[in-house]
Amino acid sequence: MDNNIAVAIDIGTTKIYVIIAKVDNETHTFQVKGYGVAASRGLKRGLIVDITTLSEDIERAVKKAEFMAGIKITKTFVGLSGKHIKSSVTNVELELDNAPRVIEEKDYKKLVRKAINRLVEDGRQVLHEIVYNYKVDNSSVLKNAIGMQGSFLKADVHLITGSEKEIISLKNALKNINIEIDDIILEPYASAKSVLTQSEKEFGTVIVDIGGGTTDLGIYKRDKLIYASVIPIGGQHFTSDIAQVLKIDLETAEELKKTFSDLYFDPKTEKTLQVDSKNSNDKIEVKLDVLKEIIEARIDDIIEYIEEGIELSGFGDYITNGIVFTGGSSKIAGLEKRAKQLLNYNIKIGVPIEIDGLLENMNKPENATGIGLLLYATEKKYYYSKLHKEKKQEKKIEKKEQNKNKIEKDNNIKEKVKKFFSSLF
Ligand SMILES: Nc1ncnc2c1ncn2[C@@H]1O[C@H](COP(=O)(O)OP(=O)(O)OP(=O)(O)O)[C@@H](O)[C@H]1O
Ligand SMILES: [Mg+2]
Repeated sequence: MDNNIAVAIDIGTTKIYVIIAKVDNETHTFQVKGYGVAASRGLKRGLIVDITTLSEDIERAVKKAEFMAGIKITKTFVGLSGKHIKSSVTNVELELDNAPRVIEEKDYKKLVRKAINRLVEDGRQVLHEIVYNYKVDNSSVLKNAIGMQGSFLKADVHLITGSEKEIISLKNALKNINIEIDDIILEPYASAKSVLTQSEKEFGTVIVDIGGGTTDLGIYKRDKLIYASVIPIGGQHFTSDIAQVLKIDLETAEELKKTFSDLYFDPKTEKTLQVDSKNSNDKIEVKLDVLKEIIEARIDDIIEYIEEGIELSGFGDYITNGIVFTGGSSKIAGLEKRAKQLLNYNIKIGVPIEIDGLLENMNKPENATGIGLLLYATEKKYYYSKLHKEKKQEKKIEKKEQNKNKIEKDNNIKEKVKKFFSSLF
């Protein structure tokens, strides 16, 4: 696979979404060449329960994307979610040398290492390390400390970890179909990348991605992800509530749920709704009021979990901007209204922001994670290509220096030989 191809795979509980794009490392942009979607059957509440089925489902989505792009893929950036995700923050201090000196990248790495030693238990793997609130000596809070002069460095280190077992299962699912992993990214981190505006990331915003099996929560402040958690409840719970209360099959319940969302805003809607049962020839008649009651009860339940999640984070006071909902289930009718009634924050339903290089109709809430993964992939590719170029440049300079030394040495020898011969005659 060409180095200028970036692939993102969002492995959701209900769908697998693959995007293939060409990246331009000079301009730091991308152009989507193909995408593919397939139903996902190997996950439950965001956790892998059947690796073989998951591999088959990923392969179906990959094949569609490959066909559209005319590109065969071998490596990908992939999203991870699930209840096993843990977010922890610790304040780390680092004494530099006796005399003040310039803070370098290696000091940043030492800070992270200290935090990892303190927080990460066996069986856990670090997915992201986010360092913020830097202080050098007695300075006020800094956005970045590298390049500053000092003898004492302090910062908050936010580590996002996942269960090693779950990560191995994810790797195996892809290995089964001969795809390697470039990097694993936390799903709400990816969603935030595509949905939140710069000012939302700056001023304290909660991103809530309600998918099929999970509700992913991330808190952004001063352009940094300061907290993340995963609630194992999502759109499938609305569907199973409807199926249980109305005593109908899941497929019909799923259709009813989506139809209700379409009808919600239409004032001419009848009081009852008729749908064909997927399992029999019967027609099912449902009172819209009943449907509304079932859906609202689950919306309230999810909102309660979100409130609890914010409280648990300890960052409630940081959320000066509000909450942005995204993900397929953010389309559920009544969510925005109910959230505005129950939560003491500004509420917005967010879709991926206009980004050059996407194809038409991609900016949907259910694509937030996939598009965010692609943005992350483009950034990483750009960063690595810059690093590669810098290293190449360094090597070139080194070689030039070596050549210069060699020429000088040769000249010295020549000079010595000349002197030697002239002393003979
Ligand atoms: N118009 C709609 N109204 C209500 N729900 C909808 C609508 N469209 C899609 N959904 C729901 O969105 C969910 C899928 O969303 P999404 O694609 O974001 O989930 P996922 O990424 O597969 O799952 P997860 O992120 O939880 O692992 C499904 O439960 C689906 O029923
Ligand atoms: Mg998802």
